[in-house]
Amino acid sequence: MLTAESLQRINREIAKYPPDQKQSAVMAALAIAQEEKGWLPNEAIEFVANYLGMPPIAAFEVATFYNMYDLKPVGKYKISVCTNLPCMLSGGVDAGEYLKKKLGIEYNETTADGLITLREGECMGACGDAPVMIVNNRRMCSWMNPEQIDKLLAELK
Ligand code: FES
Repeated sequence: MLTAESLQRINREIAKYPPDQKQSAVMAALAIAQEEKGWLPNEAIEFVANYLGMPPIAAFEVATFYNMYDLKPVGKYKISVCTNLPCMLSGGVDAGEYLKKKLGIEYNETTADGLITLREGECMGACGDAPVMIVNNRRMCSWMNPEQIDKLLAELK
C-alpha cells in the first residue's frame, strides 16, 4: 500500500519509541503516507493503523482531528492561512480575502488547474509574524501582506 521508501521512513519513526508503543508514531506515519499519496484516503489510514498495530478507529481519530491531514484530494500546493485571533487582528482575514480574490476560490476549494488549495489554518505558533501562512504543512510564510502574497503566488505558478 505504501512504497518501500515510505515504510522505511515510518520504521525510523517507530524506532524512536519503545517496541510496545509503536502507535506513538501514528502522526508521523500519517504525514508520511500523506506525502506519498498527496492526501489521505481511508485505505491509507487503515494501512497505517494496521502497520502500527492499533485499531483503525484510533488512527481515524488522529487524522480527522488535526487539520494538517487532508482527507480529500488537494492541489499541488495547499496554502493554509492562519485566521486565529492574533493573526486575525493583524491582517490575517485581509490576507485570506486577498488570496481568495487572486485565486478566484473560497476556503476549502482548489483552483481549476489543480495547483492551489486554500485552507483556514489554526495558530502556527508565530503570531508575532502575522499574517502567517503555511504551504504544504511545511513552509512557513510570515508577514504576508499583498506584496508578499503576490511573490509567493508567482513562485508557485
Ligand atoms: Fe496566527 Fe498564532 S494566531 S500564528
